[in-house]
Amino acid sequence: MARLRTAILISGRGSNMQALIESCRAPASPAEIVLVLSNNADAGGLSIAAKAGIATSVIDHRSYRDRAAFDAELDRRLRAADAAFVCLAGFMRLLTPAFVERWRDRMINIHPSLLPAFPGLDTHARALAAGVRFHGCTVHFVRFETDAGPIIVQAAVPVQAADTPDSLAARVLAQEHRIYPQALAWIAEGRVRIDGERTVVSGAAVPPAALISPTPA
Ligand code: GRF
Repeated sequence: MARLRTAILISGRGSNMQALIESCRAPASPAEIVLVLSNNADAGGLSIAAKAGIATSVIDHRSYRDRAAFDAELDRRLRAADAAFVCLAGFMRLLTPAFVERWRDRMINIHPSLLPAFPGLDTHARALAAGVRFHGCTVHFVRFETDAGPIIVQAAVPVQAADTPDSLAARVLAQEHRIYPQALAWIAEGRVRIDGERTVVSGAAVPPAALISPTPA
Protein backbone atom coordinates (compact mmCIF):
# COMPACT_ATOMS: atom_id res chain seq x y z
CA MET A 1 0.00 0.00 0.00
CA ALA A 2 1.28 3.50 -0.82
CA ARG A 3 2.40 5.32 2.29
CA LEU A 4 0.88 8.69 3.18
CA ARG A 5 3.40 11.33 2.08
CA THR A 6 3.58 13.62 5.11
CA ALA A 7 5.32 16.94 5.74
CA ILE A 8 5.99 18.28 9.24
CA LEU A 9 6.04 22.02 9.98
CA ILE A 10 8.12 23.13 12.97
CA SER A 11 9.47 26.30 14.56
CA GLY A 12 11.54 24.96 17.46
CA ARG A 13 13.09 21.94 19.15
CA GLY A 14 11.05 19.39 17.23
CA SER A 15 10.51 16.65 19.79
CA ASN A 16 7.08 15.80 18.38
CA MET A 17 8.62 15.87 14.90
CA GLN A 18 11.21 13.39 16.12
CA ALA A 19 8.52 11.09 17.52
CA LEU A 20 6.74 11.18 14.15
CA ILE A 21 9.96 10.50 12.23
CA GLU A 22 10.83 7.56 14.50
CA SER A 23 7.41 5.98 14.22
CA CYS A 24 7.45 6.33 10.43
CA ARG A 25 10.81 4.59 10.21
CA ALA A 26 9.16 1.23 10.82
CA PRO A 27 8.87 -0.60 7.50
CA ALA A 28 5.20 -1.30 8.21
CA SER A 29 4.41 2.37 8.90
CA PRO A 30 1.44 3.55 6.81
CA ALA A 31 2.94 7.07 6.63
CA GLU A 32 6.32 8.44 5.55
CA ILE A 33 7.89 11.79 6.34
CA VAL A 34 8.96 13.42 3.08
CA LEU A 35 9.80 16.94 4.29
CA VAL A 36 10.43 18.95 7.46
CA LEU A 37 9.83 22.63 6.93
CA SER A 38 10.54 25.47 9.35
CA ASN A 39 9.93 29.22 9.35
CA ASN A 40 12.96 29.51 11.61
CA ALA A 41 16.45 28.61 10.37
CA ASP A 42 17.58 28.11 13.99
CA ALA A 43 14.93 25.51 14.82
CA GLY A 44 16.68 22.66 16.66
CA GLY A 45 14.45 20.16 14.92
CA LEU A 46 16.05 20.86 11.53
CA SER A 47 19.32 19.17 12.41
CA ILE A 48 17.50 16.22 14.01
CA ALA A 49 15.55 15.76 10.78
CA ALA A 50 18.64 16.12 8.60
CA LYS A 51 20.48 13.50 10.70
CA ALA A 52 17.55 11.18 10.17
CA GLY A 53 17.97 11.63 6.41
CA ILE A 54 14.80 13.68 5.94
CA ALA A 55 14.71 16.57 3.46
CA THR A 56 14.49 19.94 5.23
CA SER A 57 13.50 23.38 4.06
CA VAL A 58 13.40 26.85 5.64
CA ILE A 59 11.06 29.68 4.71
CA ASP A 60 11.97 32.75 6.75
CA HIS A 61 8.66 34.51 7.35
CA ARG A 62 10.48 37.84 7.74
CA SER A 63 11.32 37.79 4.03
CA TYR A 64 7.66 37.85 3.00
CA ARG A 65 5.52 40.95 2.80
CA ASP A 66 2.50 39.35 4.45
CA ARG A 67 1.01 36.08 5.66
CA ALA A 68 -0.59 35.36 2.29
CA ALA A 69 2.78 35.53 0.51
CA PHE A 70 4.43 33.31 3.14
CA ASP A 71 1.61 30.77 2.98
CA ALA A 72 1.74 30.72 -0.83
CA GLU A 73 5.41 29.76 -0.65
CA LEU A 74 4.66 27.17 2.01
CA ASP A 75 2.02 25.64 -0.22
CA ARG A 76 4.39 25.67 -3.18
CA ARG A 77 7.10 23.78 -1.25
CA LEU A 78 4.65 21.23 0.09
CA ARG A 79 3.46 20.55 -3.44
CA ALA A 80 7.02 20.42 -4.77
CA ALA A 81 7.70 17.66 -2.22
CA ASP A 82 4.50 15.92 -3.33
CA ALA A 83 3.23 15.99 0.24
CA ALA A 84 -0.32 14.75 0.68
CA PHE A 85 -0.63 15.46 4.38
CA VAL A 86 0.71 18.00 6.90
CA CYS A 87 1.49 17.71 10.63
CA LEU A 88 1.98 20.93 12.57
CA ALA A 89 4.42 20.24 15.38
CA GLY A 90 5.17 23.38 17.36
CA PHE A 91 4.75 25.56 14.27
CA MET A 92 4.38 29.06 15.69
CA ARG A 93 2.81 30.88 12.73
CA LEU A 94 -0.84 31.70 12.23
CA LEU A 95 -2.01 30.32 8.90
CA THR A 96 -4.30 32.19 6.51
CA PRO A 97 -7.87 30.96 5.88
CA ALA A 98 -6.93 30.23 2.25
CA PHE A 99 -4.06 27.93 3.27
CA VAL A 100 -6.12 26.20 5.95
CA GLU A 101 -8.92 25.66 3.43
CA ARG A 102 -6.55 24.26 0.82
CA TRP A 103 -5.29 21.67 3.32
CA ARG A 104 -8.65 21.11 4.99
CA ASP A 105 -8.91 17.60 6.47
CA ARG A 106 -5.32 16.99 5.33
CA MET A 107 -3.60 18.89 8.17
CA ILE A 108 -3.42 18.07 11.89
CA ASN A 109 -1.94 19.76 14.94
CA ILE A 110 -0.91 18.79 18.46
CA HIS A 111 -1.82 21.10 21.30
CA PRO A 112 -0.71 20.77 24.93
CA SER A 113 -4.12 20.89 26.63
CA LEU A 114 -7.39 19.01 26.71
CA LEU A 115 -9.10 21.16 24.07
CA PRO A 116 -11.34 23.09 24.01
CA ALA A 117 -9.83 24.10 27.36
CA PHE A 118 -6.80 26.35 27.17
CA PRO A 119 -6.26 27.14 23.50
CA GLY A 120 -3.26 29.41 22.84
CA LEU A 121 -0.02 29.73 24.78
CA ASP A 122 1.15 28.97 28.35
CA THR A 123 -1.30 26.13 28.72
CA HIS A 124 0.49 24.44 31.62
CA ALA A 125 0.65 27.55 33.81
CA ARG A 126 -2.97 28.32 32.98
CA ALA A 127 -4.07 24.80 33.86
CA LEU A 128 -2.29 25.05 37.23
CA ALA A 129 -3.81 28.47 37.91
CA ALA A 130 -7.27 27.12 37.10
CA GLY A 131 -6.81 24.23 39.53
CA VAL A 132 -7.91 21.55 37.06
CA ARG A 133 -7.28 17.96 38.22
CA PHE A 134 -6.56 16.72 34.72
CA HIS A 135 -4.53 18.38 31.99
CA GLY A 136 -3.22 16.78 28.82
CA CYS A 137 -2.86 17.05 25.09
CA THR A 138 -4.97 16.83 21.95
CA VAL A 139 -4.39 15.93 18.30
CA HIS A 140 -6.96 17.59 16.04
CA PHE A 141 -7.63 18.49 12.44
CA VAL A 142 -6.81 22.13 11.74
CA ARG A 143 -9.52 24.73 11.24
CA PHE A 144 -9.02 28.45 10.90
CA GLU A 145 -9.78 29.25 14.54
CA THR A 146 -6.66 28.84 16.72
CA ASP A 147 -6.32 25.36 18.26
CA ALA A 148 -9.75 24.28 17.07
CA GLY A 149 -10.99 21.49 14.84
CA PRO A 150 -12.24 17.91 15.00
CA ILE A 151 -10.49 16.03 17.80
CA ILE A 152 -8.82 12.72 16.94
CA VAL A 153 -7.22 11.61 20.21
CA GLN A 154 -6.48 13.06 23.64
CA ALA A 155 -4.30 11.99 26.57
CA ALA A 156 -5.31 13.04 30.08
CA VAL A 157 -2.56 13.62 32.64
CA PRO A 158 -3.39 13.99 36.37
CA VAL A 159 -2.11 17.23 37.89
CA GLN A 160 0.05 16.57 40.96
CA ALA A 161 -0.08 18.88 43.97
CA ALA A 162 3.60 19.76 43.64
CA ASP A 163 3.50 20.40 39.88
CA THR A 164 5.17 23.42 38.35
CA PRO A 165 4.48 24.44 34.75
CA ASP A 166 7.72 22.68 33.76
CA SER A 167 7.05 19.40 35.56
CA LEU A 168 3.52 19.27 34.17
CA ALA A 169 4.76 20.15 30.66
CA ALA A 170 7.27 17.29 30.79
CA ARG A 171 4.61 14.71 31.67
CA VAL A 172 2.24 16.05 29.03
CA LEU A 173 5.02 16.05 26.42
CA ALA A 174 5.69 12.35 27.01
CA GLN A 175 2.05 11.69 26.13
CA GLU A 176 2.24 13.98 23.08
CA HIS A 177 4.98 11.73 21.76
CA ARG A 178 2.63 8.76 22.05
CA ILE A 179 -0.59 10.18 20.65
CA TYR A 180 0.76 12.17 17.69
CA PRO A 181 2.30 9.15 15.89
CA GLN A 182 -0.82 7.15 16.77
CA ALA A 183 -3.13 9.75 15.20
CA LEU A 184 -1.05 9.95 12.03
CA ALA A 185 -0.98 6.17 11.69
CA TRP A 186 -4.76 5.92 12.10
CA ILE A 187 -5.28 8.58 9.44
CA ALA A 188 -2.80 6.96 7.06
CA GLU A 189 -4.59 3.65 7.52
CA GLY A 190 -7.85 5.32 6.51
CA ARG A 191 -9.44 4.71 9.89
CA VAL A 192 -10.40 8.31 10.74
CA ARG A 193 -13.61 9.75 9.34
CA ILE A 194 -14.77 13.32 9.92
CA ASP A 195 -18.46 13.55 10.66
CA GLY A 196 -19.55 17.16 11.04
CA GLU A 197 -16.97 18.61 13.42
CA ARG A 198 -16.36 15.30 15.18
CA THR A 199 -14.21 12.38 14.15
CA VAL A 200 -14.92 8.67 14.23
CA VAL A 201 -11.92 6.34 14.62
CA SER A 202 -12.66 2.80 13.55
CA GLY A 203 -11.04 -0.12 15.30
CA ALA A 204 -10.01 1.93 18.33
CA ALA A 205 -11.07 1.23 21.90
CA VAL A 206 -12.24 3.74 24.52
CA PRO A 207 -11.30 3.13 28.17
CA PRO A 208 -14.41 1.93 29.97
CA ALA A 209 -13.65 3.43 33.38
CA ALA A 210 -13.80 7.01 34.61
CA LEU A 211 -10.62 8.69 35.84
CA ILE A 212 -11.08 10.43 39.19
CA SER A 213 -8.58 12.74 40.86
CA PRO A 214 -7.94 13.13 43.69
CA THR A 215 -8.94 9.85 45.27
CA PRO A 216 -8.68 8.83 48.95
CA ALA A 217 -5.02 8.09 49.74
C1 GRF B 1 4.46 21.00 22.04
O1 GRF B 1 4.10 21.13 23.38
C2 GRF B 1 3.24 21.02 21.17
O2 GRF B 1 2.11 20.46 21.78
C3 GRF B 1 3.01 22.50 20.95
O3 GRF B 1 4.29 23.05 20.84
C4 GRF B 1 5.23 22.22 21.53
C5 GRF B 1 6.27 21.84 20.52
O4 GRF B 1 7.30 21.07 21.10
N1 GRF B 1 2.16 22.72 19.80
P1 GRF B 1 8.29 20.27 20.16
O5 GRF B 1 8.92 21.28 19.22
O6 GRF B 1 7.49 19.25 19.43
O7 GRF B 1 9.28 19.66 21.09
